[in-house]
Amino acid sequence: MKQSETAIRKHAGRRSFLRNSLAASAATVGVEMMSNGLSALGADNQEITEGDAAILRFLAAAEILETDLWQQYTELTGQDAPASGYKTGLIQLDGDMPQYISDNTDDEQSHELFINAYLKSKGAKTVDLEQFRTLEGSQVTDIPGVASRKRLTNLMQLSVDTSWWTRYRSDTQNPDFGDTFPNAVPTLAAGKFTAIPRNNAELEIGNTNVPVDTHVQAIANTAGFHFAFIEQGGTSLYASVAQRVSNVEVLRIVLSIGGTEIMHFQTWHDKAGNAVPLTDGALVFPDLTADIPQPETLQSNLIMPEPTIFLSKKFPVCSIIRPTATKGVATGAAKALTADGLFIGQTPDFFEFLNDLAEEADAAQREI
Ligand SMILES: [Fe+2]
Ligand SMILES: [Fe+2]
Repeated sequence: MKQSETAIRKHAGRRSFLRNSLAASAATVGVEMMSNGLSALGADNQEITEGDAAILRFLAAAEILETDLWQQYTELTGQDAPASGYKTGLIQLDGDMPQYISDNTDDEQSHELFINAYLKSKGAKTVDLEQFRTLEGSQVTDIPGVASRKRLTNLMQLSVDTSWWTRYRSDTQNPDFGDTFPNAVPTLAAGKFTAIPRNNAELEIGNTNVPVDTHVQAIANTAGFHFAFIEQGGTSLYASVAQRVSNVEVLRIVLSIGGTEIMHFQTWHDKAGNAVPLTDGALVFPDLTADIPQPETLQSNLIMPEPTIFLSKKFPVCSIIRPTATKGVATGAAKALTADGLFIGQTPDFFEFLNDLAEEADAAQREI
């Protein structure tokens, strides 16, 4: 299922013309937008390279998958979802969780729709994953519509990598130097756990009692850490692919959307630290709050990135998002989402499609 490009050219002469006219072109966009209210879609009249289109297509696929998973969370615990033990469990992490969950979902959907619309405006192939919407989701029937919808992602058998927690607290290591980091919640990374209620018993519709049932709170805690896992991935993905973008408008898109992924991650990073300490079978959530003695690698209020090594150890440490190495980043992102368990039950065709998009994005080269 190789994606082919027909409408996108990358002639050297055309590119050097574009380079020379970049400043004038940018000014023209501003004038056009002021004079006739045109949106920025394709407003610069520049073609984009095959590489830029491939990068945007992988991002579009990632955003479609993000939208699908966030949509499931929103149906069960977003702003409009009814009160339940699960929702109460998430509110233990922060009283505003339902609002944040709904808003994160809106953001992902806007990213998906924007990137595909932009690709279309450039005559480039867009991304559609609807043929892979085959997975059964939660079988909750106490919230109408949930059980009947087919999904792209599986939130019920997750192995959530929580090493982002210690990675952002390290002041001596960086994954771009090959360093690896321990999990903050080792059992969550080791097993397979649901982040959503699979049935009415796990939802506990109408229940607002605190403390929440231990198993239901464990599901809510799992979601809390999963939110941050997903968004730290987006945080690194956008910064990493940005380094191989050619067209300055595409760079603007990648930087502007990537920034909101960072905002999402920062929010969820803060909330995950409020996960209620508990043991639910094999799943153990330690107490990460700051009011007990903690090593700095676990302290819950250290939510700003600790300055660490960056580019070369000869430089002073620097507060940065991490990793941001660009080589193989799309393939790495697809692998990380697969290892998360998000695609358990998906078809071989789905993996082939996603891997093709990732490989094409990773093959893109900066052409300016
Ligand atoms: Fe997004
Ligand atoms: Fe995101």
